[in-house]
Amino acid sequence: MLVRADLNVPLEDGKIADDTRIRAALPTLRWLLEHDARNVTVCSHLGRPKGPDPAFSVAPVREALTAAIGDDRLTVLENTRFNPGETKNDPSFARELADANDLFVEDAFGSVHRAHASTVGVAELLPAYAGLLLERELTELGKLLGDVERPFVLISGGAKVEDKLGVLGNLGGKADVVLVGGKMAEELREANPLPFDVVLPSDVVAASEFAEDADTRVVPYDDLPDGWLGLDIGPETRETFAQHIQAARTIFWNGPMGVFEWPRFAEGTEAIAQAVADADAFSVVGGADSARALQELGLADRVSWLSTGGGAALELLEGKDLPGVAVIPEA
Ligand code: 3PG
Repeated sequence: MLVRADLNVPLEDGKIADDTRIRAALPTLRWLLEHDARNVTVCSHLGRPKGPDPAFSVAPVREALTAAIGDDRLTVLENTRFNPGETKNDPSFARELADANDLFVEDAFGSVHRAHASTVGVAELLPAYAGLLLERELTELGKLLGDVERPFVLISGGAKVEDKLGVLGNLGGKADVVLVGGKMAEELREANPLPFDVVLPSDVVAASEFAEDADTRVVPYDDLPDGWLGLDIGPETRETFAQHIQAARTIFWNGPMGVFEWPRFAEGTEAIAQAVADADAFSVVGGADSARALQELGLADRVSWLSTGGGAALELLEGKDLPGVAVIPEA
């Protein structure tokens, strides 16, 4: 059988920088092998190559996955995006993927918002089923779309503002409190009044330039000196946000509060991660950066669900149809 997993992990100097997605793919693969699958072939994209490119080879991922599974019935195909037919959902590439297999298992939650040959095309050619990770992601994230325990606190940050406005639009009105930090906050301050209340930062760690060793000072959010940049939420904001989070019974957090890759601007994101982990709430965290912050702080297992999806989780919470899910009859 063919399994589409999302093994699109961050690589640094050819090494896997975060293996969360590899670990998340294991239960379905183990289940299939334990239930006597004769052969399990796994495929995934890795990065955004425009054709074959050794820098995006799945070799390090293959090594890690085969070592974790330890069963010679497992094969890991090369990066699906080395074939130009992948992103075009080209039927001949889908046919090539389908040909040697009897069944298809869709387990790449992080990729189901893409209508590609390995996520949609192949599912139209073989009997197609949802894997354990996909099923769990849909269940846990889906809880946020149903009745939630209140207060429901939505926390949004990060730089990819356009990607997140849709979620704010769909869930913002339902949430009791919407906390916004990071670049999102700057955009929203400029925006027309939103149809729901947003708590914006009251203070900010200002930096003289966009550099790790910039001069910094904490200033009121409305008082950024000319030419300075807000690179983290300030201590007063951290306190206010943490109080809201502490009172929550349901939480969704996506996106860091500042440039957390630089330790001098990581305190805001760390404070939010800690507050989310400590909260007595159903807490869901999505997006690569928030997930990475939780992992680095050793808090990943202190939240109710850490999603492997970035764009896919956001599109689900925006209320959009996910093509890689829509194509699975039982999902
Ligand atoms: C992700 O990392 O969000 C998924 O693997 C999808 O990757 P893509 O945005 O390159 O399609």
